[in-house]
Amino acid sequence: MATNCPSETTAILPTDTQSIESTILAPAGFLATRLKNWQPRSQPTKPLPAFYRNIEESLNQRRNSRSICTIVQNYWQTSNAVDFCSGDILSLNAGGALRAAFLDELSQFPDFTVGSGGVRLMDGNYTYLERVEHDIAAFHGAEDGIIVGSAYEANVAVWTALPRPGDVIVYDKLVHASTHEGMRRSRALQRISFEHNNIDHFRDTLVKIIETNAAINAGNSSILVAVESIYSMDGDVCPLKQFMEVAKDVTEGKGNVQFIVDEAHGVGVLGPNGSGLVCQLKLEKEVAVVVHSFGKAVGAAGAIILGSPSIKSALVNFGRSILFTTSPSFPFVAAIKAGYNLLGTVQGQTARDHIQMKARLFFNTLTSHNLWETCHAKGILHVPLAQGWEDRAFLTHIITVSTREKYILWLFVHLMAASFSVFSVPYPIVPLGQDRVRIIIHAGNTDEQIVGLVNALFTWAEEIIEIEQGTSSAEVSSVASKVNEWMRKEGLTARL
Ligand SMILES: Cc1ncc(COP(=O)(O)O)c(C=O)c1O
Repeated sequence: MATNCPSETTAILPTDTQSIESTILAPAGFLATRLKNWQPRSQPTKPLPAFYRNIEESLNQRRNSRSICTIVQNYWQTSNAVDFCSGDILSLNAGGALRAAFLDELSQFPDFTVGSGGVRLMDGNYTYLERVEHDIAAFHGAEDGIIVGSAYEANVAVWTALPRPGDVIVYDKLVHASTHEGMRRSRALQRISFEHNNIDHFRDTLVKIIETNAAINAGNSSILVAVESIYSMDGDVCPLKQFMEVAKDVTEGKGNVQFIVDEAHGVGVLGPNGSGLVCQLKLEKEVAVVVHSFGKAVGAAGAIILGSPSIKSALVNFGRSILFTTSPSFPFVAAIKAGYNLLGTVQGQTARDHIQMKARLFFNTLTSHNLWETCHAKGILHVPLAQGWEDRAFLTHIITVSTREKYILWLFVHLMAASFSVFSVPYPIVPLGQDRVRIIIHAGNTDEQIVGLVNALFTWAEEIIEIEQGTSSAEVSSVASKVNEWMRKEGLTARL
């Protein structure tokens, strides 16, 4: 491997000798805790006050539908399993590079103050914060920017603060929960969705609004469009340029369709030096607002909202989640700056190149496997991004795999047992009936890990084909069967 590339994570490829109870079902581990948490709680002997009883009742609904969330360390964090899951996409944390850059950044300011001292508009503003905001805005070709605690907070602030009464929000059906939260609380007249990444439906939606809304037709109110550069649960890229051309076309140059782009999954991985999709398409001057999360490829936490000085002013005046909160502290901002110090280096570029190589290897291994056509045709393995992968100049780090709904947890536990940590994405994170597993390719993944993961998919698929054809007497996949056995032993009523 070339110098400066991120360190590789350790591969543990499938082994039959490890007992499932000491690996994926280790006590207090990721899976055991989650499965135990599925179990509906019985009524306590002493009746609870209504407040707690009602909370338990709503949690039980989640338990019954197996959509209850549990705070637990992920499997790759507590074992030698391969991380195909975390947001450390460029492997800047896994390889220790970010820690070194962070300590280096801190060492340049030995007298720094730990706390920020207050809200941004009172005592929480300081030179370093302003400088880093300015540097990051310049990096993305934006006029100005404001750093906030998270992209969730950023989206809530953007959508509650910026739409004026009379404006209409048009959003891609698959935008993130934080955008929904902000839109729901906005002052906009209407919120209208369009089919995911669908240019024709986007055009029809705009045309209908313009035809029926006199203020928008006259150019006195605006349509604000919410899209993401790379979609977190699908891994596909927004056709932003085409959307913007449609907007110009249907408004006949009135300029009252403005775009707000969430680049949570784009920053660090695409565009020059990882500056994102908007920069890649040279649309910096045309997109009104861009949100970058620092919690993924940048390797830190927090977010920046980029836009004009008036946008920044509107955010601090009308964005209550910015107005009424303590501003980001020095160490928090220094971690962000350290991440940005790495994005444009040879190491940053090598990491981006690695992701491309590994994603290509994934699709190549997948689609050239002798079982691929059968699995694909039968719907046993559905990988939407496998279609036309060779023709895409840029491959994202997010790949989703689905199967028949009843098998998705079998697939998930199979991959865990094979030492591959992926994310099983249930409803309500994705629409009902569209559960999937999400694979995140990291710069530090090795070829062996990628090929091992694909092979593990097919080992599982082969078992399923045999079950469906009746050539196997099993009713569930082998790992699912062992997990069910363990659940029975533990007195749990749920089954995979
Ligand atoms: C598209 C998108 N926007 C915003 C967020 C929130 O990011 P953060 O973790 O910085 O709050 C996420 C998180 O996964 C996301 O996927």
